[in-house]
Amino acid sequence: MPVITAPQAFNEEDLYVDLAPMLGHRLFLKCEGFNFAGSIKLKAATEMVESAERSGTLTRDSILVESSSGNLGVALSMIAASKGYRFVCVTDSRCNLTTRLMMEALGSRVHVVSDEHAAGGLLGARLAHVRALCAADARYVWLSQYTNADNWRAHYFRTAPAIARWFPRLDVLFVGVGTTGTLMGCARWFRSWHRPVRIVAVDSVGSAIFGDPPGRRMIPGLGMSTRPPLLDEAYVDEAVRVDEVDTVRTCRNLARRGFLFGGSTGTVVSGAAGWLARHGTPGLTAVAIAPDLGERYLDTVYQTNWVQALYGEDALDPGRQADGDAYPTTSPPTGITRVARVTPGGR
Ligand SMILES: Cc1ncc(COP(=O)(O)O)c(C=O)c1O
Repeated sequence: MPVITAPQAFNEEDLYVDLAPMLGHRLFLKCEGFNFAGSIKLKAATEMVESAERSGTLTRDSILVESSSGNLGVALSMIAASKGYRFVCVTDSRCNLTTRLMMEALGSRVHVVSDEHAAGGLLGARLAHVRALCAADARYVWLSQYTNADNWRAHYFRTAPAIARWFPRLDVLFVGVGTTGTLMGCARWFRSWHRPVRIVAVDSVGSAIFGDPPGRRMIPGLGMSTRPPLLDEAYVDEAVRVDEVDTVRTCRNLARRGFLFGGSTGTVVSGAAGWLARHGTPGLTAVAIAPDLGERYLDTVYQTNWVQALYGEDALDPGRQADGDAYPTTSPPTGITRVARVTPGGR
């Protein structure tokens, strides 16, 4: 019986959903949404805060500040409340209302930027706002998830070994990418494991992480409008990109089976399903990471009007992704848009 006094002390690390009945391919989905922050960002937030405490950067007088589209903001709000720090989250207009209200309920201040930065889009505008706050008041401590090595270390120390514990014969790991903290921590850890693991990054169409020009992206969590500083492509075997319309269809198909996951889980599962349909050999052991659950997406991915307005009527058609072999959507327009090998030196 786990008994805790601090919310960050609890995290369900060992829960997987077997997606074979839905996909017709063996794929185990690691569920990271069962903690008091509701997402995998609990680990990055904990690692970054504790490291800043150890180094003396973070003191009682400090005001934590961070740019987040939501989940890291919630995790930091929770940890700040638990440890007695003040926290300002700088987010943008794509952050959903529930997430903002959660941060405020936990005692944080939320600054929402809505005007895009000329060169860096909404992310650029958020970062400019954070820099301005830090320049104006020395008490601000910016953890900087985009550049902080403790972000990927969290997954090196926790996520990857947890997967290895249950899957000693893992062949392929699918990881969604935002800051690339999860990807880089897992990829680094598995690089020195007893057997090679194929590391497949899953990104959204419209994201510039792997060098494409930035485009429209409406679902927060995955993707970035610039190349993430933490990314080292030498550790990544492949990058798969998924159209947001397929993210929506996959989320809604999962929900129809009773699994209400967040937007990036739909992206990762859609990307993994397509990859397995193209490459999968029977007996392959594959794991994908589900960063959060679906409540934060009720007014977007799971809201019919929102989906129709942005992606059209077809996005609501469950038949576009049927069970079993018909499910993986390998051909446009319902499919994975691109599969690219990104590392000349990859395995
Ligand atoms: C919803 C969601 N998707 C994807 C990710 C993966 O992001 P990152 O690359 O920043 O580790 C996260 C991060 O925690 C997330 O919260």
